[in-house]
Amino acid sequence: MFRFTELVFLVAGWAPLAWGHTVIVYPGWRGNNIHTNGTVSPTDNSIIPGSIGINYIEENKTYGFPYGMQWMYPCGGMPTSTNRTKWPIGGGAISVQPGWFPGHSLAFFYINMGYGNEPLNMSHSMLPVFQITGPTNIQYPGSFCLPQVPLPANYTPQIGDNATIQIIELAQHGAALYNCADITFADPKDVPEVNETNCKNTTGPDDHIGFNFVFTTTSLSAAHPSLQFNPYASILLPLLLAMATWLTWI
Ligand SMILES: *[C@@H]1O[C@H](CO)[C@@H](O)[C@H](O)[C@H]1NC(C)=O
Ligand SMILES: *[C@@H]1O[C@H](CO)[C@@H](O)[C@H](O)[C@H]1NC(C)=O
Ligand SMILES: *[C@@H]1O[C@H](CO)[C@@H](O)[C@H](O)[C@H]1NC(C)=O
Ligand SMILES: *[C@@H]1O[C@H](CO)[C@@H](O)[C@H](O)[C@H]1NC(C)=O
Ligand SMILES: *[C@@H]1O[C@H](CO)[C@@H](O)[C@H](O)[C@H]1NC(C)=O
Ligand SMILES: *[C@@H]1O[C@H](CO)[C@@H](O)[C@H](O)[C@H]1NC(C)=O
Ligand SMILES: *[C@@H]1O[C@H](CO)[C@@H](O)[C@H](O)[C@H]1NC(C)=O
Repeated sequence: MFRFTELVFLVAGWAPLAWGHTVIVYPGWRGNNIHTNGTVSPTDNSIIPGSIGINYIEENKTYGFPYGMQWMYPCGGMPTSTNRTKWPIGGGAISVQPGWFPGHSLAFFYINMGYGNEPLNMSHSMLPVFQITGPTNIQYPGSFCLPQVPLPANYTPQIGDNATIQIIELAQHGAALYNCADITFADPKDVPEVNETNCKNTTGPDDHIGFNFVFTTTSLSAAHPSLQFNPYASILLPLLLAMATWLTWI
């Protein structure tokens, strides 16, 4: 079960971006993928303006990302890294900077894991989806910290095994921003201490971040297996909850 007391996220101010972006503070991310480094140009014949979101630059054999890298599944355009972070074998801290949220200061977060050195999918949930709310409708600094995120269900790695943690932020209009951290499972005593220097909830008036649960239907039906929800109600409940939290923040 998801326990908020086990979460850690960090937020910092960044240069103006069109949507909120994430920085994974702990464990360390694959690298800086918040920039936009491609072109959408009517003078470049290799790009149909505005159409693809990724372009291949023949001369130096690199990829450019005209709308920014973080929109790319699965890891925001970044390849698997070799500088992995040791992470506790029973689960551990995750600290994320949600970034800047102009317009509406809320977003949905998914945290998943892919197994092995080069995961081909990230289909294993570590936490149920949750929502964060920011202090204002304009950009703000801040961070949050989940100190003990569990492993996906039915997954028992060995010390030395590799995996990738994927953080997805859903922006206001449903577009997803991707970011990943590559880890090696380690005995907790071999993992450097995580403390407020790299994992902190900011609580000031300008950088306080709130949390909201989104879905409750699974636990309701598990707790009351004899209850019959009609399909409409089971859709309506999470929708109403999501709307209620949203209305609080517009
Ligand atoms: C951050 O806030 C969440 C939600 O209240 C809480 O569960 C978590 O323990 C806090 N993190 C730290 C490091 O105190
Ligand atoms: C790994 O190396 C890249 C490239 O130097 C760097 O951007 C990234 O922060 C590093 N990640 C970790 C976890 O050290
Ligand atoms: C590749 O070429 C493009 C276009 O000239 C340039 O903008 C970009 O910085 C180059 N990238 C690298 C990694 O050298
Ligand atoms: C864009 O940035 C990524 C990551 O730093 C890099 O791999 C890629 O070569 C860059 N592309 C261009 C066109 O500079
Ligand atoms: C985990 O990744 C590291 C660095 O990329 C590699 O040296 C090591 O062999 C990998 N471990 C396993 C069990 O494949
Ligand atoms: C995802 O990867 C896991 C192994 O990491 C594999 O067992 C599973 O079948 C894969 N799922 C899909 C949908 O490819
Ligand atoms: C936080 O942990 C680091 C090791 O990761 C350590 O060097 C540092 O002294 C700690 N800071 C505090 C305030 O405990």
